[in-house]
Amino acid sequence: MMDLFSEIEEPEREELRSLRRELEEANYKYYILNMPTLSDREFDEKMHRLQELEAMFPDMFDPKSPTQHVGSDLSVQRDNTQGTKGKAFETVKHKYPMLSLANSYSREEIEDWVRKLPSGVEIVCELKFDGLSISLWYEHGVLVKALTRGDGVQGDDVIANIKTIPSIPWRIERPDIPEFFELRGEVLLPWERFEALNKEREEQEEPLFANPRNAASGTLKLQDPKEVARRGLDAYLYYMLGDNLPGMTHFERLSTAKEWGFHISEAIKICRNVDEVMAYIAYWDTERKNLPVATDGIVLKVNNLAQQEELGFTAKTPRWAIAYKFPAEKQLTLLREITYQVGRTGVVTPVANLEPVQLSGTIVQRATLHNEDFIKSLDIRPGDRVWVEKGGEIIPKIVGRADRNDEMSATSSLNDAMIYSFPDVCPECGAKLVRVEGEAAWRCPNETGCPPQIKGKIEHFVSRKAMDIEGLGEETIDLFYQKGLLHNIADIYDLQLEDIAAQERLGEKSAQNILDGIEASKKVPWSRVLFALGIRMVGETTAKKIAKKYYTIDSLQWATVEQLCAIEDVGPQIAENIVKYFEDIRNLEILERLRQAGLQFEGEAAEEPQSDKLAGMSIVISGTFTHHSRDEYKAMIESHGGKNVGSVSKKTTFILAGENMGPEKRKKAEELGIKMLSEDEFLELVASEE
Ligand code: IVH
Repeated sequence: MMDLFSEIEEPEREELRSLRRELEEANYKYYILNMPTLSDREFDEKMHRLQELEAMFPDMFDPKSPTQHVGSDLSVQRDNTQGTKGKAFETVKHKYPMLSLANSYSREEIEDWVRKLPSGVEIVCELKFDGLSISLWYEHGVLVKALTRGDGVQGDDVIANIKTIPSIPWRIERPDIPEFFELRGEVLLPWERFEALNKEREEQEEPLFANPRNAASGTLKLQDPKEVARRGLDAYLYYMLGDNLPGMTHFERLSTAKEWGFHISEAIKICRNVDEVMAYIAYWDTERKNLPVATDGIVLKVNNLAQQEELGFTAKTPRWAIAYKFPAEKQLTLLREITYQVGRTGVVTPVANLEPVQLSGTIVQRATLHNEDFIKSLDIRPGDRVWVEKGGEIIPKIVGRADRNDEMSATSSLNDAMIYSFPDVCPECGAKLVRVEGEAAWRCPNETGCPPQIKGKIEHFVSRKAMDIEGLGEETIDLFYQKGLLHNIADIYDLQLEDIAAQERLGEKSAQNILDGIEASKKVPWSRVLFALGIRMVGETTAKKIAKKYYTIDSLQWATVEQLCAIEDVGPQIAENIVKYFEDIRNLEILERLRQAGLQFEGEAAEEPQSDKLAGMSIVISGTFTHHSRDEYKAMIESHGGKNVGSVSKKTTFILAGENMGPEKRKKAEELGIKMLSEDEFLELVASEE
């Protein structure tokens, strides 16, 4: 029998349920996965609709509804590739709940908000920084906790990471400091640092951060404060709370915080009407592009604290403050086609080919679609109208798609046939693609037969930071590849003047330039040669660290995964890539040819400690030596854990005494009864088995 109730149930109830599910999921993707799926505006619209529906059906009240709590960024139980299991940070209950702000997008919405405030109210306008909120606790002037927002009720204590931010004081020494106060603000990764970090990640073939907010969030959750410090976070503070604090207004409190040494933005202004607010917005909508950090709107706050208290809070937001969001630079355009780009390591990246569209002053016609999962999560297909956004990010990105028209979705068979599927063979060479478990990318495994991989490896090898061979650019490499002159990096060293000069566009002079560049590359140091080899995930910095530890290619060739993992920045994946590289006979043949050509496969001796034989010893070097220089002996002492000191004292352990030792030193040593070791004795000591 037909279920009559489902027949008569208002469709709004179903809409309500589905909105709850959708917003829960969007919250999870935004806060936990750092992968926003809805724009702020879409999110707000859906939330607004859900509130409307919940008001229509009070019987469907649910305390777990997204309307009743803010999203959560609490670190979850993790079992990630680094093997960190369990909770990474201590969870602490907030003294005052950390709420979010209601959003507005137009003058009308701001007018609506102002209308509900007492007349003649002062409004403080501030920039809305686009990072992560943080709550700093100071007890007797000492920073004791730094909590993320978490679910608004409790957050993660990330103090070790916060302490890497130079502008956040660890201690304030002033007589007038209250016993306890809390300062809230936003943690950010400045544009410059964000771009540098992404560049580095690109080199290491790690996934890029979509924007500085995601990068800051990922950074704040790291377990390694040293790495956090290296990335260079910053913070702006915008809200002081606590009992018996000085000042009657928000503005005064921030001025006090500034006096105490906190980083408070200069862009704070008291406005007295909506016109003044709109003028502030208009000014900063343009001017913000010159700021070192990302902003996504402005925040309006009632200045007077007594008025703030009177206005109070809703379940999720204060009534005394509201955000105004700048319109995102986003356009809807037609996705004409999805094409595929094969990189030098075989990664196949889907690219959206778009109907050209104007965005932030440039014409955009291509945008990355990242990988198969991304395309599937947005259910994007050629022929769709897609949203392209260009924030401060480097590459324009697709952030969503418009609803398909009903006509199309009605013809479901056509629709199903069009469901997107990633190609299973390489678009360049036809090899069957592989997807490594745990990776989002599909790869072409045909390393030595797939043209873009062959050319890409050669381009990488000759690039400026690698072998720096001038004259061998992308076009020339392409030409030489077509003509059969170049198939791999070793072929470069077999190029002959007449072969090069015989090519169109290349006379004898440019041919000679290329050969000079090739010759000069034979002096490029070992660490850069290692980088140039293009071992997967071995970027410039990693190569330097490896070359410092393994200063000949022969020693590196026999290193095990375990040994390689002992190097800073080298994880199991990189280590495995290195081991695999040396297991491949084709690579060994190429290396042998490069060795014959005279490339630097050896570097300077490692500065890493060799042993701790001389640990705790103070050693004076005196006189002249035959086997090594004084500097070399100094380095040797240090590399075995000892300390080289200048003058003889009773703390001196022994003297490394060469020929013609200074008479003063000898006299003093004899007086104090300090041992003297000849050059040979010393060398024997450091060479001896432990
Ligand atoms: S005040 C109770 N001021 O925006 C009000 N928030 O969308 C506390 N934000 O969670 C917030 N700049 O992370 C305030 N100048 C500013 C801000 C700001 C950025 C963030 C903050 C908040 C979020 C709400």
